Amino acid sequence: MEGAGPVRKAFAPAGPLLGTACVPGDKSISHRAVILAALAVGQSRIEGLSLGRDVAATVAAMQAMGARIGREDDRAIIDGVGVGGLFQPESALDMGNSGTAARLLMGVVATHPVAATFIGDSSLSRRPMERVAAPLRRIGADIAASAGGTLPATIRGIAPAAPQTTRLAVPSAQVKSALLLAGLNTAGVTRVVEPVATRDHSERLLRLFGADIRVEGEEITLRGEAELRPQTLGVPGDPSAAAFLAVAASIVPGSDIRIENVGINPLRMGIYLVLREMGADIVFANEREASGEPVADLRVRHAPLRAVEVRPELVPAMIDEFPIFFVAAAFAEGRSSARGLAELRVKESDRIAAMADGLRRIGVTVEESEEGLAIQGSGGDPLPGGATVDTRRDHRVAMSLAVAGLHARAPVTLDDLSSVATSFPGFPDLVRSLQP
Ligand code: S3P
Repeated sequence: MEGAGPVRKAFAPAGPLLGTACVPGDKSISHRAVILAALAVGQSRIEGLSLGRDVAATVAAMQAMGARIGREDDRAIIDGVGVGGLFQPESALDMGNSGTAARLLMGVVATHPVAATFIGDSSLSRRPMERVAAPLRRIGADIAASAGGTLPATIRGIAPAAPQTTRLAVPSAQVKSALLLAGLNTAGVTRVVEPVATRDHSERLLRLFGADIRVEGEEITLRGEAELRPQTLGVPGDPSAAAFLAVAASIVPGSDIRIENVGINPLRMGIYLVLREMGADIVFANEREASGEPVADLRVRHAPLRAVEVRPELVPAMIDEFPIFFVAAAFAEGRSSARGLAELRVKESDRIAAMADGLRRIGVTVEESEEGLAIQGSGGDPLPGGATVDTRRDHRVAMSLAVAGLHARAPVTLDDLSSVATSFPGFPDLVRSLQP
């Protein structure tokens, strides 16, 4: 939350990580499940929803536009308004820190007869929105963004909208999803062509909710005006959240943990492929399917890591995991590198700069370039640590540098831990509970 004071917190070695953990529900899937349930006709029940602030922004926005969303035990109960049935929100929709909430909901509003102003925190208000606004204008929505194509932005939706074929200029699951969500209330066939595959949670969930959606090679087609059927579903654990624990267990000697019920969608698995290439001991057990997504239990044991050069084709499948990959690389034998990372500069923070700076402060040699980072590893030795790092209020930067502190000669102090509430509010307690 902006405005609340920073919460400093030191992370220091406390022995091996041992035992069993569950991570929060997948954030990407949670946003989409809330939106589709709110657009279905009838009552959906969703278990395992992410309880972070990002998904709370999507919940609040869908409530502001008419969906009834409540809780029963740890389930969200959502009464949808039906595609086309959204109400005019009475005030601005506050997206907080969440790019996914902002971009997906811009797509939803674009084809409903409502006008909505989207606002966000200072980080989100710097992030590019033209990538989603431009294709939504082509279907007829009226979008006035701030200078530079950022939030605040006001969208006047158009209904009926004109179905379009859009070839994605930036590989972005958020832009793809915005267009598909806009297609729900558009008569005719909406096409999205995706030259580089990105996470396909929207496609899977749209199918589950009964939309007429097809995927053939690079092309996704969706037939509107869809009638979505309410669902009972379980959101798998977030592989992006699990990656922090997987790297922690890989670098801290003696560790052996299980992480239960983690989503293993192939388009999210880049970090796990790379960690295994580095020599990490990660085993997927009990593979199964749940609510249209593949799921497994992960076992991770400490193992010496070797340096790696990340293959550029893996970048989209590990786009959120570079901060924690850089930490794994800092403990590997040799020099690791990754290129083609321009998108990292426009995430919740400039993640190349944030991680280069954070790692340098705790004694790691890194070389930063415009679109990449190279990291000299310690060969498994503890890092020097002993510094306060600037997390830039970015949850993934904070958790990654915290993990580095678990195998350091002196503590790594985060200038502010509060950003972890964005995606993984229980992170510090969970780490502590794994170090009995
Ligand atoms: C997301 C897509 C990715 C990712 C983000 C979540 C999604 O963003 O970085 O954390 O849920 O669709 P881009 O679409 O900008 O690549």
